[in-house]
Amino acid sequence: MCGIVGYVGNSSRRADAGHSALDVVLEGLRRLEYRGYDSAGVAVVAHGTIASRKKSGKLSNLLNELEDNPLPDSLTGIGHTRWATHGGPTDQNAHPHLADGGRLAMIHNGIIENFAELKQELIAKGVTFESETDTEVAAALLGDIFRNQLNGDSSNGKLTKAMQLACQRLEGAFTLLAVHAERPDVVVAARRNSPLVVGLGEGENFLGSDVSGFIDHTRRAVELGQDQIVTITADTVEITDFFGAPAQGKEYHVDWDPASAEKGGFSSFMEKEIHDQPDAVTQTLLGRSDINGKLTLSELRIDPELLKQVNKIIVLACGTAAYAGMVAKYAIENWCRIPTEVELAHEFRYRDPIVDANTLVVSISQSGETMDTLMAVRYAREQGAKTISICNTNGSTIPRESDAVLYTHAGPEIAVASTKAFLAQITAAYLLGLYLAQLRGNIFSGQIKDVLADLGKIPAHIQKILDNAGPLRELARSMKDEKSVLFLGRHVGYPVALEGALKLKEIAYIHAEGFAAGELKHGPIALIEEGQPVFVVVPSPRGRDSLHAKVVSNIQEIRARGARTLVIAEEGDEAVRAYAEHVFYVPQTPTLLMPLLTTVPLQIFAAELAKAKGYDVDQPRNLAKSVTVE
Ligand code: F6R
Repeated sequence: MCGIVGYVGNSSRRADAGHSALDVVLEGLRRLEYRGYDSAGVAVVAHGTIASRKKSGKLSNLLNELEDNPLPDSLTGIGHTRWATHGGPTDQNAHPHLADGGRLAMIHNGIIENFAELKQELIAKGVTFESETDTEVAAALLGDIFRNQLNGDSSNGKLTKAMQLACQRLEGAFTLLAVHAERPDVVVAARRNSPLVVGLGEGENFLGSDVSGFIDHTRRAVELGQDQIVTITADTVEITDFFGAPAQGKEYHVDWDPASAEKGGFSSFMEKEIHDQPDAVTQTLLGRSDINGKLTLSELRIDPELLKQVNKIIVLACGTAAYAGMVAKYAIENWCRIPTEVELAHEFRYRDPIVDANTLVVSISQSGETMDTLMAVRYAREQGAKTISICNTNGSTIPRESDAVLYTHAGPEIAVASTKAFLAQITAAYLLGLYLAQLRGNIFSGQIKDVLADLGKIPAHIQKILDNAGPLRELARSMKDEKSVLFLGRHVGYPVALEGALKLKEIAYIHAEGFAAGELKHGPIALIEEGQPVFVVVPSPRGRDSLHAKVVSNIQEIRARGARTLVIAEEGDEAVRAYAEHVFYVPQTPTLLMPLLTTVPLQIFAAELAKAKGYDVDQPRNLAKSVTVE
């Protein structure tokens, strides 16, 4: 997830309002910085050339660079703020990327899945590359088409045509913006499975990953469809499909103020991130399997032979990430038949754990900077273990200090309480589990294909939960004065119960406890009294053994003692209705994948309740997003 801005103005507009492309683009980047802050860069077209500046780190680094090395005045420009995916957060990997001998600049959000084969093709033609990014490959492809395939085309639409031809070759998800020195008054953009909006001005037009990229200038926006290309000049906006057929965008009025525009119109980043979850799962799955259902985790740079020898897995993480690890244990043991332990990272190295060269340590961390997890990974490596990091932050310390990394592609998580990173971590852990099983031959390829197909349906299922959350929100608001809420779950529902309780503690400051439902009778049931609210995460009745029946009995037991039973169950589970004060249904999915769905209502509940209490949902008291002390 990166932030993208494009701008074309005209000279009379410039005289009127003093808009320079650079000012507009930088202002847009400032508003879009929440989408990524690994690097930032801009390019303008001026005096028949492209001039660009880019810098790793926050936008402020780019601003300093521009002060030292100013860009010429211009009416056409593009800008990018990066959330690194392919290639670490370095100056070199920052966008824009240049091609066609420096006459073309491109910025990109998304992942080009077939970049490796395109790169080989271009290298064979003599193209050289400076970065590790997939974007530079897309830029080189566009440059090659513009210069060679369309050689002799002198029409105004040459850059647009080149973009159409390039997009026909690209696979994956992308928003691309390009400018060319030979077309100084044009920005061409393309989108597939990645956001792009046009802003309509007077004598000027804009492009943005979302409306916050141009909200200071216009409220008239045009939404593009899938697989469309848009060409903007100061006075025109032309949309086509990837094959040049004219297409229409949908114009709408933006009534958000600039602050809420950054949050996509939601009242908090946490709400926005809860709603980002279908995309977070999609992006994490993207490009990691082929059409035959074979896992292709090519970025996992670790010798497959070493992975085949692994006889024990230890998952290390803290907080929410550790709950993702607990879910991972169920999946990995089920698919790979490798004994898997999950341990809080801060406990690990203080107990003299048994770790050797056949141990695989999988760390899970959104930030990649959590000191407890980092120290545990270091310790495991010292003991000879192989280490794989599941991480959301490209180039952060934990992946750098691990043997290999599998990035989650949830995009930056701004709210302190983790939501979309959790779902992305679980998704990545499933992919890792399936990959290990595939390597070791523990699982039939047909079975992997089936799980991948079920995973592919998860984003739409999450969307359905989000779209039908009205009654749940109403319940949350009605419970704002509660002093204590309990959460029960079993099997993969147990970590979900723990996560539901943690979310409520963190942002609503309500006492909350998660229990394994089977543990109830061993103590916690003593807490149940008249009116005690208890969320129960119910396993699928289609699942194994009598687990469903046992949890339904638990619901009966607590209800008999006066508990308010708030049940999360799968669609079609009518058996729970009789004992539930409220049932919130989630779509059906195989048991192991259920946490990707059952967690979502609990996140919504916590966020809505905290909001009803008037708390700052994004920055809860006493907490920091990244815990860099032990
Ligand atoms: C809870 C939460 C924390 C983090 C934990 C680990 O909402 O966000 O519990 O999960 O501090 O952080 P990372 O994943 O950055 O290592």
